[in-house]
Formats: sequence, structure tokens, C-alpha cells
Amino acid sequence: VVHVGLLGCGVVGSAVARAIERGTTDQRGPNGTSPPPRFEVTQVAVRDPAKRRDCSIPRHRFVTDPVKVAGDPGIDVVVEVMGGVEPAFDAITVALGSGKPVVTANKELLGTWGSELAEHSARGGVPLLYEAAVAGTVPIVRLLSDHLASDRIERIEGVLNGTSNFVLEQMELGLDADEALQRARDLGYAEADASRDLDGTDAADKLAILARIAFGEPVSTDDVHTLGIRSLSAPDLRDAVERGTRWRLLATAGRGGCLRVEPVPLPADHPLAALRGPESGVLVTAERAGTLLLRGAGAGGDPTAVSVMADLAVVLRCS
Ligand code: NAP
Ligand code: HSE
Repeated sequence: VVHVGLLGCGVVGSAVARAIERGTTDQRGPNGTSPPPRFEVTQVAVRDPAKRRDCSIPRHRFVTDPVKVAGDPGIDVVVEVMGGVEPAFDAITVALGSGKPVVTANKELLGTWGSELAEHSARGGVPLLYEAAVAGTVPIVRLLSDHLASDRIERIEGVLNGTSNFVLEQMELGLDADEALQRARDLGYAEADASRDLDGTDAADKLAILARIAFGEPVSTDDVHTLGIRSLSAPDLRDAVERGTRWRLLATAGRGGCLRVEPVPLPADHPLAALRGPESGVLVTAERAGTLLLRGAGAGGDPTAVSVMADLAVVLRCS
């Protein structure tokens, strides 16, 4: 049994706990060989241990100190799904420092401190994995870091925030912005501070993470020229549809060029204009591979937990 310290048990954390309860990673060993060992969530750090959770982890495993969980010798791997910079940074540093692989979905932290944490991970030879931090279930981190490792990536263009895509679509359908955002919150798509979704900061975090992998430059969220969707009104959106375009919060990065997140009216037949609800999509152009498109659920607990579980499977293979 691999003992997991789960930091956070909200939308994503409880979906990870349910996936572990279902034994998702037991289903396929490499080439159909014997199943890998099971994961067990041994400790869970939350703010309020008394709150009801959407999973069946026994109450006595809930504690309030994530840094202590990360350093506990009884924990083999840490899954950080709390969000925010502190105490997540401390917890991840403690885990890596004590030789525990870390899986995180925290783009706010990685957008700002990703280079430092990657160095820490490389220095100690301890994996830090974060597929879930960008575009929910879409395996874009794996595409850039593994599949295209031998190629020269030239350009990334994507819709990286599911909430803003959902809000824009709901507004096209006639809802006002506040109602649309409330729906996104109720469905578990929005950040705890939803201004990160609407002002483009969440997409900027994700673009910085992707650009760092694709171009090998130590960029951070501060390097992204960022404009959100708040200035768009429902009539703007409906007019655009009538003119055969759709507003999308587009994130773009080119090798050696600037990084931008801004609303752009895309032709209706553009692949990123076709994204529905909380979907994310990314077009990656590389020298030899050409242009690849990935698209899928960009937000939501269960789809994001699929990416966390994929990283946990990598941890198993590496150990
Ligand atoms: P959430 O529902 O707000 O859950 C956050 C969890 O972390 C809660 O269980 C909370 O405890 C716990 N927590 C927060 N601060 C803590 C602290 N200082 N000490 C101990 N526990 C703390 O958030 P979420 O939507 O699951 O998102 C979690 C992370 O995944 C964020 O980094 C987010 O950006 C990222 N992410 C989210 C999605 C999505 O679709 N929601 C998709 C991809 C990535 P309480 O429950 O007791 O308050
Ligand atoms: N709030 C984020 C979004 C969650 O809507 O894209 C997924 O990262």
C-alpha cells in the first residue's frame, strides 16, 4: 500500500479521494501485467475537519496542519489540492525535502514559484508532477514535456480557463454575468477567488507553466500580459455570434515572443471557438510534429482527478 497525504478535500480533493476509493489505478498494470499496489489516503489536511465531505475517508484521518502531514514519515506521497501560495509552498518544500514525491493541481503556486520548486525537485531527484494544474483533464503537460521532448515547440495557443469559457457561453445564451458565475461556482469550476478566473490570472498562471516547459525559460505569471473577460457584455457576445464569431479568453505564447491572455473574437469555425461549457483546448505547433489539438473538460472535480491519478500512476512507476 502506498500511503497518500491528501492536502485539501474540496472539489478536487474529494474527487481524488473517491478515485482512490474506486481503486482506479489498480485496473491496468503495464501491458496487462499484475496490478500495481493500492493507494490509501492515510491523512487529510483541511481547514475544518468537522465539515461533511463527498467521500468516505474516516473522520479520524482529518487534521488541520498540511505541513505536518507533508513531513510525516508514515506518508509516502503528497497530493496538494488546497490552492493558494501558503501553506502549499511550505508543505511541498517539506515533502520534497523529505524525499516524498508530490502531485499538485495548484497553478497559482506553480505560476509564481514553479521554477524554484522544479529546481528543488530536480536537486533532490524527487518527482514534482502537475498535470492537473493546467486544463483539468487535458494531458497538455505530458504532451509538451514527454511526447514533444525531441521537437522544437514554436507556439502555444489555448483557452485555459474553463470558468470564463462557461460564463461567456452562458452569457451568449442570455444569462447575466453574475448568474453565470454563480452556476460555475455551484458546479465546482471556479477558483475559491473567482476574480482569478474572470480577470485572466488563472489562465496566465497556466500559460506561464506551459511556456516554461515548452521554451525552457523561467517565466512566471507576472510575465504574462493579462486582460480578463469582465469588459464583455451580453450584447457584445450576441452581436459577435451574429457576425459569425465567438469571444474566447485566448492565451498565446510564441518562442521568444510575448505571453498574452486576452479576450479575442474567433471565427466560429476556429477549433477553440468550438469549445463548450467548461472545456479547455490547446493548439501546439512544433517544428516537426506540426500542429496538435487537445480538448476536454478544463475544470470540475472528477475530470481533474483523472489527471491527478495519472500523475500518481507515474509516481508508482518511478518508485
Ligand atoms: P476547494 O474546493 O476550495 O478546496 C480546497 C480545500 O483545501 C478544502 O478542503 C480546504 O479545507 C483546504 N484548505 C485550503 N486552505 C487550507 C489550509 N490553509 N490548511 C488546510 N486545508 C486547507 O478548491 P478546489 O476547487 O478543490 O481546488 C483545489 C486546487 O485545485 C486549487 O489549486 C485549484 O486551483 C486547483 N484546481 C481546481 C480545479 C477545479 O475545477 N475546481 C481544476 C484544476 C485545478 P476546508 O474544506 O476545510 O475549507
Ligand atoms: N477555475 C479553473 C478553471 C479550474 O475554471 O479553469 C481549472 O483549473
